[in-house]
Amino acid sequence: MLLLNSSLNGGFSYHGLLATTAMAGVTSHLGFFIRGEHHIAAPIIARVYFVLLLAVFFLGIKYLGIYGGSKVAAVVSGVYVASLLSSIITYRKLFHRIRGFPGPYLAGASKLWHLFHVRDSHNHLFLDKLHENTERPTEITIFSPEVVKVADGPNNNCTKAVWYDILIPLTALNTTRDKVHHDQRRRIWNQGFTKKALTDYENRINTYGEALERHIASTTGQPVNVSEWFYFLTFDVMGDFAFARSFKMLEDENWHYAVLMLRRALTLLGPFSSVPWLIQLALSIPIIPVVRDWHTMIKWCSDRMTERIKTKVERQDISSSLINASLNNNSLQQDRFLLDGDSVAMIVAGSDTVASALIYLFRCLALEPAHAKLLRAESLGVDIYDPRALASLDHLNGVINEILRLFPSVQTGGYRQTPPEGLIIAGRFIPGNITVVAPRYTIGRL
Ligand code: HEM
Repeated sequence: MLLLNSSLNGGFSYHGLLATTAMAGVTSHLGFFIRGEHHIAAPIIARVYFVLLLAVFFLGIKYLGIYGGSKVAAVVSGVYVASLLSSIITYRKLFHRIRGFPGPYLAGASKLWHLFHVRDSHNHLFLDKLHENTERPTEITIFSPEVVKVADGPNNNCTKAVWYDILIPLTALNTTRDKVHHDQRRRIWNQGFTKKALTDYENRINTYGEALERHIASTTGQPVNVSEWFYFLTFDVMGDFAFARSFKMLEDENWHYAVLMLRRALTLLGPFSSVPWLIQLALSIPIIPVVRDWHTMIKWCSDRMTERIKTKVERQDISSSLINASLNNNSLQQDRFLLDGDSVAMIVAGSDTVASALIYLFRCLALEPAHAKLLRAESLGVDIYDPRALASLDHLNGVINEILRLFPSVQTGGYRQTPPEGLIIAGRFIPGNITVVAPRYTIGRL
């Protein structure tokens, strides 16, 4: 067969080429991929591979013609991928420092196994089904309540895992992986959440709550799609808090195009969060519709920040302290990557989370009307505009806490990375620089 013929053809040795390719697969894995983090470089790596493949293809054509060239390119890429995968699997199964943790065999071989199983975005149900300390390459899923304190509690030594590079080149408060930088940024954010600011936000929420109440009253007993309306409520509120400008969905009784686009863009995270390098690769291919939505969403949030910087607002919003800090520091332009990142965080962090909590809360009350009755009885004679009075209602707070336990808004996310020296969780040593996944959906139901 042509490709197994080891004789030189125009100075071209197939066996030599295939041996070099196989060695390149193993060398690139052992010399490059297992050293440090490369997920952000995934698009560049993919381009380098593509250029190399083209080079092999054209060299092949030069010496062997179009048919031979295509065959050489196909075989070279096949041999390279096979040798790279063999090296990855051998290393992970025989030498990796978390090889001893239990879990499905293929889970420890490739993250693509996980991606395949969560392609429907139901990662919380998938992990819940596994429900055991489960190994995946460089990542451990831990179903123990202790992980919450050790990996996320005060003074923990963990950092945020590679997933948090998702917004790069932008950085939001919640995606900042450097602890010192996060603390600095957090102090600036805190100025937007002083007691005075919170009282003002509470008053502003009332206006939106009343608009929702008016709509429900106007439907006179007809079914209301509360899932939609809770999203209208929370996005309108967060638009106001973030940029002093509501999305006006409650008023228009319809979705704002930017919110629809944002929700479509976020669907990327469901299946792909388990393989961060694939997210980076996908984000570099804007012809994919959901990726186009993602970039348009980021641009939309950046544009809102540009608009907000130029606007003088009468009432404080979260952006006020962020913009003022940059103005005072004379670093408004240099800080745009932070401000634009925070713009995404402000919109998403407060709206998606609260909407999903409200939807689950009312679903459970519909299924358990006795609790709805108890809540009504408890709130009789209470000034519902007084947050302190609401905070003292035991059953109301119990119901909210139960909903957040059973249906946490962040069900599987919040990936953390162990410190270089490793740490002990639930009596077991976890080596350093390992991603720890603590699925709140399951941990809340143990
Ligand atoms: C039901 C309501 C909410 C839930 C369950 C919730 C949950 C969470 C969780 C689990 C995190 C940590 C995420 C991570 O580590 O990746 C987080 C962070 C954050 N949330 Fe919320 N959230 C809620 C409402 C809000 C609201 C209303 C706002 C804004 C007004 C907000 C702003 C933030 C910010 C800025 C962070 C990042 C904090 C930091 O990195 O220091 N959240 N939230």
